[in-house]
Amino acid sequence: MDVFEAIFNRRSIRKFIDKPVEEDKVARVLDAARWAPSIGNLQEWQFIIVRDPGRKLQLAEAALGQYWIAQSSVIIVVLTKNDRVTRAYGKRGEELYVKQDAAAAIQNMLLAAHALGLGACWVSVFEEPAVERILKIPSQIDVHALIPIGYPAEKPIPPHRIGLEFMTFFEEYGKRWVKHLPGTLR
Ligand SMILES: Cc1cc2nc3c(=O)[nH]c(=O)nc-3n(C[C@H](O)[C@H](O)[C@H](O)COP(=O)(O)O)c2cc1C
Repeated sequence: MDVFEAIFNRRSIRKFIDKPVEEDKVARVLDAARWAPSIGNLQEWQFIIVRDPGRKLQLAEAALGQYWIAQSSVIIVVLTKNDRVTRAYGKRGEELYVKQDAAAAIQNMLLAAHALGLGACWVSVFEEPAVERILKIPSQIDVHALIPIGYPAEKPIPPHRIGLEFMTFFEEYGKRWVKHLPGTLR
């Protein structure tokens, strides 16, 4: 799949059919995460693959009652260990770079899932201590997101995007960017 097609047509999928996602597709999604950029190429990511229905339900409860995530075939939980980033880059590493690393990996996962004909959603609204308890995650590990993945049972209408001209400046903050945008970008 063309990268632009993947970027523009990917949607957050929150309804799934009752069909298991094959393990090799899960591995492919994780491989896409692994090839994301990371600070100093430290690759501090870790992932937990959750397929057990009881555990998925517990995660849905930890995600403030987002019960739809339990209908997915698999939930990939995205974590970072932070010790090497913090050692190398200090406070900024701990507070910012690990989050950026996780976000880059997550976006790769969402695009890869879409390219494989799967549906997925980035879920970060959850109580972290509850997720740590359910999955036995040590407290020094950060939990960034739950990514429920399954075969989609919906094709959402693309949600609104703010025009580029309202978020882009030219040369200086606040200076309007006037550009003749192709019709498709308006
Ligand atoms: C940091 C972050 C956290 C999110 N958390 C949730 C969530 O907890 N539950 C949910 O249903 N969607 C969540 N989303 C998905 C957004 O709602 C979704 O990306 C947005 O509405 C745009 O829709 P689209 O992904 O289909 O383009 C999250 C997205 C991001 C980037």
